[in-house]
Amino acid sequence: MARHEDLPVPIFNSLEPVYGTGSQLEEAELRFGKLKSKFIESFGQSPDIYARSPGRVNLIGEHIDYEGYSVLPMAIRQDTIVAIRKVEREKGLRISNVNAEKYPMCTYPADPDQEIDLKNHRWGHYFICGYKGFYEYAKSKGLDVGDTVGLEVMVDGIVPTGSGLSSSAAFVCSSTIAIMAVLGSSFAKKELAQLTCECERHIGTQSGGMDQAISVMAQSGFAALIDFNPIRATEVQLPAGGTFVIAHSLAESQKAVTAATNYNNRVVECRLASIVLGIKLGMNAEEAITKVKTLSDVEELCISFASTRGSSDPVLAVKEFLKEEPYSAEDIEQIINEKLEVVFANSPSSLDVLRAAEYFKLHKRAAHVYSEAKRVYAFKDAVSSESSEEEKLKKIGDLMNDSHYSCSVLYECSCPELEELVKVCHDNGALGARLTGAGWGGCAVALVKESIVPQFILNLKEQYFQSRIDKGVIRKDDLGLYVFASKPSSGAAIIQQQG
Ligand code: GLA
Repeated sequence: MARHEDLPVPIFNSLEPVYGTGSQLEEAELRFGKLKSKFIESFGQSPDIYARSPGRVNLIGEHIDYEGYSVLPMAIRQDTIVAIRKVEREKGLRISNVNAEKYPMCTYPADPDQEIDLKNHRWGHYFICGYKGFYEYAKSKGLDVGDTVGLEVMVDGIVPTGSGLSSSAAFVCSSTIAIMAVLGSSFAKKELAQLTCECERHIGTQSGGMDQAISVMAQSGFAALIDFNPIRATEVQLPAGGTFVIAHSLAESQKAVTAATNYNNRVVECRLASIVLGIKLGMNAEEAITKVKTLSDVEELCISFASTRGSSDPVLAVKEFLKEEPYSAEDIEQIINEKLEVVFANSPSSLDVLRAAEYFKLHKRAAHVYSEAKRVYAFKDAVSSESSEEEKLKKIGDLMNDSHYSCSVLYECSCPELEELVKVCHDNGALGARLTGAGWGGCAVALVKESIVPQFILNLKEQYFQSRIDKGVIRKDDLGLYVFASKPSSGAAIIQQQG
């Protein structure tokens, strides 16, 4: 039987297979109805097709996907829907949003080779990531997709932005799938996961592929272990009796805007750590610079070093060969015998990092990555073990706590609001709680016994959110957007007609 990542994105003629029944279906029917009428209002005709892709919450495995390591997220019900119509006689792309006040219409030329103007960030840029990505991929496969045409697009996204729940991947994936479908192509889910990951990098973040992979490949009712190179998703059944509660710290995490000092900075630090480790473990400098891209590339060397000490833990090599104090650029240049600007000459966004950074914390970053990679497998092993559900919940809660500590202390991607929120989660009986997604703001995810979920959410509202309501940061009526329980939802889908 074909693995599900080898299959195309499913095409449905109704909303039930995606949204189930009950209140979620009702909400979806309202959204699709409104999307269609706004589309007709703007463009005079109905859309040809709809594509939807969900956001995600990462349960464990933070900041390790771009280092080649497996991660364990689940899709959430909040998604982005893209309605699209092909206009043969016209060229150009017109991208509207149901929330026109916040997201005014963006227009772009039809040229798939256009550069994205990163200095002027516009919400429509994410659609163009998908557009460019589709054409690049089709070209690389030698597909004849004909001349470019005009596209009319209306977007409805309900994944909160800047929340660490992957609103950007939901938008890029639904856009790419909508473009693919309306232009008459069909790629396997694993191809889409790969191409959407690459195309989101046009926005300037050197992200790994977790968000797009889970958005495209999720199966309702399951979290997934996502492996990279090649991309693969394995369903993970979560233990009964536990619920994941997602809560927003209300600090916005703007991944693309802060890339040079936060996200891309860590990617660069990991690359430097892996080159230095490679050299210390016997590679010649030139070879290390050209061949070593990620910490997973030098893991074997680290493990064989550890074996001389009777261990298999790569962190031993980190402790031995990377000093705990920060490195200056000159410190590293001396070890690798090359200027950092030369190492990163082909990556403008890495050069931005070098310009912004005073020093590089190689020891801490590498220790986080290797230990977090292990925790992902420990989590997977715990949930598939023979232990009682109670024991499983306790074990994965502990792993989530360890992950948070590592993100906070070693990777330094937390912030005061997230620290406060995670503490409030613990004070109210969470078995585990951690920041989720890139960090520096956004959401925390807490594992909570099902029986206490309503009380837990009430307590969070009182102890974390009430003071923010009083200060006018959020409105009381919107609380449901900022703290909610979540079940593993389904992945991307194409919807051919509505109602
Ligand atoms: C963002 C990126 C992902 C991943 C996480 C951190 O969400 O898009 O690829 O690196 O941060 O785990």
